[in-house]
Amino acid sequence: MGDFVGAIDQGTTSTRFMIFDHDGNEVARRQLEHAQILPRAGWVEHDPVEIWERTAAVVAAALTDAGLGAADLAALGVTNQRETTIVWDPRTGRPYHNAIVWQDTRTDRIVAALERDGRGQVIRRRSGLPPATYFSAGKIAWILDNVDGVRAAAERGEAVFGTVDSWLLWNLTGGPRGGLHVTDVTNASRTMLMDLHTLDWGDELLEFFGVPRAILPAIRPSSDPTGYGSTTVSGPLRGEVALTADLGDQHAATVGQVCFDPGQAKNTYGTGNFLLLNTGSRAVPSQHGLLTTVGYRFGDDDPVYALEGSIAVTGSAVQWLRDQLGIISSAAESETLAATVSDSGGIYFVPAFSGLFAPYWRSDARGAVVGLSRFHTGAHLARAALEAICYQSRDVAEAMRLDSGVALDVLRVDGGVTANDLCMQTQADILGVPVSRPVVAETTALGAAYAAGLAVGFWKDTGELSTHWREERRFEPRWSADRRESGYAGWRKAVERTLNWVDV
Ligand code: G3P
Repeated sequence: MGDFVGAIDQGTTSTRFMIFDHDGNEVARRQLEHAQILPRAGWVEHDPVEIWERTAAVVAAALTDAGLGAADLAALGVTNQRETTIVWDPRTGRPYHNAIVWQDTRTDRIVAALERDGRGQVIRRRSGLPPATYFSAGKIAWILDNVDGVRAAAERGEAVFGTVDSWLLWNLTGGPRGGLHVTDVTNASRTMLMDLHTLDWGDELLEFFGVPRAILPAIRPSSDPTGYGSTTVSGPLRGEVALTADLGDQHAATVGQVCFDPGQAKNTYGTGNFLLLNTGSRAVPSQHGLLTTVGYRFGDDDPVYALEGSIAVTGSAVQWLRDQLGIISSAAESETLAATVSDSGGIYFVPAFSGLFAPYWRSDARGAVVGLSRFHTGAHLARAALEAICYQSRDVAEAMRLDSGVALDVLRVDGGVTANDLCMQTQADILGVPVSRPVVAETTALGAAYAAGLAVGFWKDTGELSTHWREERRFEPRWSADRRESGYAGWRKAVERTLNWVDV
């Protein structure tokens, strides 16, 4: 068996390949960004071929950097941006359309119609998800009904659907020359087509969206010794490596943060924010705007469920300050600029660019900055952007407490934004609980590597993985209770202002 495990982390803005050793230490990493295609307001697309080519490039480059080959890898795991939808022709490997990204709101009318027809409750009960543009089902329906000839091709067996994990696994295992058409239970749980209790595609859900079962991949456990096949000699690894894990990126981060016990939670700060609470063997239905989702499933073990608060725009609000407004030249500068003022001067920035996700689920919302006067500067706006990241996580933490009865006593954090100390301090201040940052911030890739390694016995069990986790820094809350509550009340008022902004 090889001495290392590899993990592909295909995210919303970039693709990474990382190699880890037996102690969970990073040995090599390569990362490449891909284009964000924004054809009109509210639409977000990626080029699936570009994503595959960048994946192949980072894999090959990291192996070269480390001086390793396929034989050095005991196993390989894949983790990915979830919900993003690709439909391709399995005979040629050509996508019929760009990938429709999870942030894309073009399906708002499809979704609103489901709610009006009274199907929303059935969807919630079966899939654990509220009807929203976020999930794959509406995006598949859109491609089948709007791209010439695709529905007919699907009926002839000449079109298949996959989330990004399926697309990569299909390419890694041979593509048009015999690739496997598979996904895992966590990714499937985000399509809105999987029944959360049977862990199989649900007939009623398929019918609601007009999706033929034949185009869907087989659903496997997240960690599986045989389910995902092996890489091919003609692929970027130039050899056969066992593909033994596939899980959505937020689920992988939960594993990487070793949140294996019910009641443990992590918050990942990427393009968006995703707070997941392990609820053990119980799929807890949400009454307060959270998602019920499969946390992970290792082999034949029972699935572990989670409650999730998904926030669409957090790190991407900082990118917006950089790319669209040009008030900072790098994401890191958001911290230095925000630190030049002691607070946001009473303004709130609600970055509802894709409507509002958890716990509101309002596709009619759009972004707003409220409370402006001539006094305010870009520094106040930068500070309000960082606060918005934290207030949105507070919204989700409140909903989690109401749904599960679990009040967080510490929040484990990871992802790019956690390098921003001011933001992490603000998070502790706004939540009123300590924020704990681990030594290994790349918990998403690490979690995919853990799941892959567990499947082949590279690591013995989750107990062994838990011994790897180390805290790097803890941020203690500093605000008074009064300041915390009046700040939050202002945030709630600002959120109100963003609603009913567009007709759906
Ligand atoms: O549900 C979307 C999520 O998986 C995207 O994560 O880190 O690529 O923004 P990230």
